[in-house]
Amino acid sequence: MSAMDKPENPAVADSAFLKACRREPVPHTPVWFMRQAGRSLPEYLKVREGIPMLESCMRPELVTEITLQPVRRHGVDAAIYFSDIVVPLKAIGLDLDIKPGVGPVVEQPIRSRADLERLRDLTPEDVSYVTEAIRMLTAELGSTPLIGFAGAPFTLASYLVEGGPSKNHEHTKALMYGDPQLWADLLDRLADITAAFLKVQIEAGASAVQLFDSWVGALAPADYRRSVLPASRKVFEAVAPYDVPRIHFGVGTGELLGLMGEAGADVVGVDWRVPLDEAVRRVGPGKALQGNLDPAVLFSTREAVESKAREVLDAASGLEGHIFNLGHGVLPTTDPGALTALTEYVHEQTAR
Ligand code: CP3
Repeated sequence: MSAMDKPENPAVADSAFLKACRREPVPHTPVWFMRQAGRSLPEYLKVREGIPMLESCMRPELVTEITLQPVRRHGVDAAIYFSDIVVPLKAIGLDLDIKPGVGPVVEQPIRSRADLERLRDLTPEDVSYVTEAIRMLTAELGSTPLIGFAGAPFTLASYLVEGGPSKNHEHTKALMYGDPQLWADLLDRLADITAAFLKVQIEAGASAVQLFDSWVGALAPADYRRSVLPASRKVFEAVAPYDVPRIHFGVGTGELLGLMGEAGADVVGVDWRVPLDEAVRRVGPGKALQGNLDPAVLFSTREAVESKAREVLDAASGLEGHIFNLGHGVLPTTDPGALTALTEYVHEQTAR
């Protein structure tokens, strides 16, 4: 048996989530929520008390507990591994931190050829706690699939070049337009690190992987094609031999959906700005779609949530594979009860 041919739990392989990723008939539309782990759950806040975010990502027992919490509470069809997109960058020694209410902050931004030297390869030993946590998790999850994830090269580059979260990505774009060769080399390095990080998660037992290119919607299609697509494609190609579904997601990507389809994922995540029946035309054939309820809708009445969720299901009714999700992550002050009710609603409406 080759390393890429691990024994698979048949109940996981037959789960609604993995069937939908493969565009096979499903017993009900599977549901999970980006950023379902962490955020507002009281049981999350309790176990995280006094433990900084990045440190909590390195404690396998804590990671296992936090990853399981939304599965227990909402009955979602997949778990997402509790970590952060900057964990592999921290693991290769970059001086960065996650500031509560702010996000990732990098002490010395990466802007020159010399800075690039600080991005060394990631080895499985750098993230042994990930392997350990995923082994513990898959034992606990039973028939529920685990989604591994990583940040996409553009979104990681944006944090590294800006030094922190950014609205306009001015330093990032300055580098991308001003020194295209350095930019290409930076994204290529990040693609290798990202691919290595996803491989660790798959080898340890993740059943699917999602590449988060959260901020790539800041780019026009021609720039995406020239300056981002080759690196994201490299990541998808690197993990293709494992034959686990690969999901590709970004925000504000209406104009990029076709190109994101070209990058090679099996499932494309769509934000709430493009209805799924239109998104499927843009993405092109042969791919499942994931999405796309506006996360802010969850602050409205139960009737409004159900009517907006119904709209998503109606737009998805002609798709070959649909995974119900939000159009972006759960917002921090979302009422957990609204997520449980929404999960039940989608299951009940789509039971076949
Ligand atoms: O989906 C999940 O629930 C799994 C865990 C997860 C986290 N971050 C935990 C986290 C995932 C998948 C992420 C991905 C992530 N991180 C993305 C892509 C998804 C997206 O929302 O677009 C991005 C852009 C980041 C970078 C990042 N890390 C941000 C913007 C923040 C939020 C800052 C804040 O406090 O609002 C973080 C920190 C972070 N990542 C927290 C959690 C639970 C909060 C940290 C804390 O509690 O101090």
